[in-house]
Amino acid sequence: MRKESPLLRWLRWIVAVAAVLLVGFVIGWFARPTSSHVQGDGTSSQYLRKFLDEMKASNIREHLRKFTRLPHLAGTKQNLVYAEQIREEWLSFGLDSVELVPYDVLLSYPNKSQPNYISIVDQLGNEVFNTSLAEPVPDGYEGVADIIPPYSAFSPKGQPEGELVYVNYGRTEDFVQLKREMGINVTGKIVIVRYGKIFRGNKVKNAMLAGAKGIIMFSDPADYSAVGVQPYPDGWNLPGGGAQRGNVLNLNGAGDPLTPGYPAKEYTYRSNLEDGVGLPKIPVHPIGYHDAMHLLKNMGGRLPPNNWKGALNVSYSIGPGFTDTFRTQKVRMNIHTNNQVTRIYNVIGRIRGAQEPDRYVILGGHRDAWVFGAIDPMSGAAVVHETVRSAGKLLSNGGCWRPRRTIIFASWDAEEFGLLGSTEWAEDNAKLLQERAVAYINADSAIEGMYTLRVDCTPSLHTLVYDLTKQIASPEEGEEGVSLYDSWHKRDNWTSDRDAPRISKLGSGSDFEAYFIRLGIAAGRARYTKDRKTERYSSYPVYHSVYETFELVERFYDPTFRRLQAVAQVRGGLIFRLADSQLLPLDANEYAGSLRRYVLSIAERAEKHPEEMKMYRVTFDALFSAEENFTIAARDFHVRLQNLNRVRMVNDQLMYLERAFIDPLGLPGRPFYRHLIFAPSSHNKYAGESFPGIYDALFDIESSANQQQAWQEVKRQISIAAFTVHAAAMTLTQPA
Ligand SMILES: *[C@@H]1O[C@H](CO)[C@@H](O)[C@H](O)[C@H]1NC(C)=O
Ligand SMILES: *[C@@H]1O[C@H](CO)[C@@H](O)[C@H](O)[C@H]1NC(C)=O
Ligand SMILES: *[C@@H]1O[C@H](CO)[C@@H](O)[C@H](O)[C@H]1NC(C)=O
Ligand SMILES: *[C@@H]1O[C@H](CO)[C@@H](O)[C@H](O)[C@H]1NC(C)=O
Ligand SMILES: *[C@@H]1O[C@H](CO)[C@@H](O)[C@H](O)[C@H]1NC(C)=O
Ligand SMILES: *[C@@H]1O[C@H](CO)[C@@H](O)[C@H](O)[C@H]1NC(C)=O
Ligand SMILES: [Zn+2]
Repeated sequence: MRKESPLLRWLRWIVAVAAVLLVGFVIGWFARPTSSHVQGDGTSSQYLRKFLDEMKASNIREHLRKFTRLPHLAGTKQNLVYAEQIREEWLSFGLDSVELVPYDVLLSYPNKSQPNYISIVDQLGNEVFNTSLAEPVPDGYEGVADIIPPYSAFSPKGQPEGELVYVNYGRTEDFVQLKREMGINVTGKIVIVRYGKIFRGNKVKNAMLAGAKGIIMFSDPADYSAVGVQPYPDGWNLPGGGAQRGNVLNLNGAGDPLTPGYPAKEYTYRSNLEDGVGLPKIPVHPIGYHDAMHLLKNMGGRLPPNNWKGALNVSYSIGPGFTDTFRTQKVRMNIHTNNQVTRIYNVIGRIRGAQEPDRYVILGGHRDAWVFGAIDPMSGAAVVHETVRSAGKLLSNGGCWRPRRTIIFASWDAEEFGLLGSTEWAEDNAKLLQERAVAYINADSAIEGMYTLRVDCTPSLHTLVYDLTKQIASPEEGEEGVSLYDSWHKRDNWTSDRDAPRISKLGSGSDFEAYFIRLGIAAGRARYTKDRKTERYSSYPVYHSVYETFELVERFYDPTFRRLQAVAQVRGGLIFRLADSQLLPLDANEYAGSLRRYVLSIAERAEKHPEEMKMYRVTFDALFSAEENFTIAARDFHVRLQNLNRVRMVNDQLMYLERAFIDPLGLPGRPFYRHLIFAPSSHNKYAGESFPGIYDALFDIESSANQQQAWQEVKRQISIAAFTVHAAAMTLTQPA
């Protein structure tokens, strides 16, 4: 070997160092944040691809199989066993930390030795017909312990007896029609309504306000059967002996009924049951359509309007009471359900952010189920499990990836009892979350149909959802090489507003509520759904019944598990991009566009009363002006992003944009619903309403006794909305 001169060695060394520096400089130069980063950071997007490709349909199948063998109702031993198992597995997948976080909240269970049922009683008081005490158990699950029979959680105890009145879906408009058009007074009666269209708690509230002394809810085949499909196990329809469990609270976002506003810790002060938030005052019970036939077949009184008729072979007569032949018979409810403060457990896992550990991106979904919960919620929990596994794999592989921001994974408890686990944790961590939370992605049921994707989210997430779904494959057979975006676009074209797949407003009925509507954290949810144009039934037929088994999903909803895989990629991809993009992928222009549509729509609603608008001098000018200011501020903001040098500053503006819509005083009568642009509808918790304060002030205003006062409230709500939208716009302007 020839010996090198020292001088030559020096020269080589200097050249090498210079080259390294030059490469570093070039990388640094091109990695400078520019507008292209809104679409995705270069290296981050390679990791996104790996992260998405790592999620496997076969794994999701195994997760779902594992967590649906036994019933795991909130507050039971089995749901704690699953929580511990999830903690162990998330740790083994590679999360930095995983803990169980307990709370003691009010739950509600039937009395095992005194079952709930409804009977028809004759004039001597004999119970000549009783509804069934349980659903027929599906094959393969005989002998499984702890299958809770269908009941309405938080129903008070009671044995009211009286005549039945049939009130269609029990919606606000149904009770209005009953009273104003049919002149029927339900005071002292028991009402019977069909499930569907709106949240069951709203039906119960409407019945209470109308003066009923009890309410029975049944699943009508018109709302819980698809045409040409067999009842389970031969198909995915609800059998006649199946019934829908569910809570009947009207919490309006309060969480645990005894500790509104504060986490239900051991030392927390608890109110009396009588002062509990949202507890119904009249007995409530759910039944299937076989039992409903018996209660409805002899109903007398007037015939129903056509749109009150379901699909049973009965007249759907409204009552009150039975036909003359059975006039002496009454209906009795026997309800012995108990409220009980019970310990629940959230599982909270974390991946610490590398550059911004003080910024949180949350993926949360519930674990508790009414029985096996193969759709609700375990199809979602299985998806989260696979997302955690994929993130853990990326983290441990060579140790070269760690997200920019902290990712928090949550397995919530007691969602079915009123979003309790997620709301208590939000209350517990409110101070941190309002300063640090970037976004919350919800992970309840991942599938409710076999047709296409469904996304509900805050407007600032629209662009990210579209961008991401273009990078995910369609799970449908015969669509090889087609993107999820194109498949979705073809099946659910949002033609009224734009040429893109439909995205809807967030309502409620799942765990994002406290994060979005109370705390003002950008939020979204995604799942696979049915064809909205042809499938008219509510949710999915066997919703909240014992028939939500693993086999239901495997045989009917997603035999290849590719639909669940696609949903995992959407949910996971959202948190990945939110946690790892240098510039937050939130779009203020989209918010401006949505605000414009909402302002036009609420103003149009008011214009239906031109005389009153004139008489009480009601104008939307301020709201239109605020919306215009917002549009300009959003546009200028995104222009400034082109020449960006202070990423953290603009990211904070994007993160706090959603927060800016929070009014600390909340909506009238609903202190925990504080988002002024979006709230669950006052008439249906499942649906989202835009400008809810103005909407509620205008609702049925023509029948308000004091017109002057009612229109003053409209004016007040318009001014609050205008102020808030303008103030939100100001958060987007360049800090002086
Ligand atoms: C359940 O019912 C039994 C039998 O009627 C009764 O003795 C018991 O007190 C009830 N349990 C509760 C918690 O109310
Ligand atoms: C209904 O249940 C009650 C209480 O168990 C019982 O006394 C009655 O005989 C039952 N009626 C029928 C028709 O089975
Ligand atoms: C309904 O009936 C109750 C009791 O019979 C009565 O007190 C009440 O005034 C009635 N309501 C209306 C609106 O007629
Ligand atoms: C519907 O009920 C009527 C009277 O109870 C009965 O005569 C008829 O056969 C029933 N129709 C069907 C399709 O079951
Ligand atoms: C969506 O609807 C628009 C307007 O009707 C149409 O031009 C467009 O081709 C449709 N897109 C898809 C993917 O079907
Ligand atoms: C919109 O901005 C203009 C100009 O700054 C201001 O005069 C107006 O009051 C703003 N509108 C609202 C509703 O605050
Ligand atoms: Zn659920």
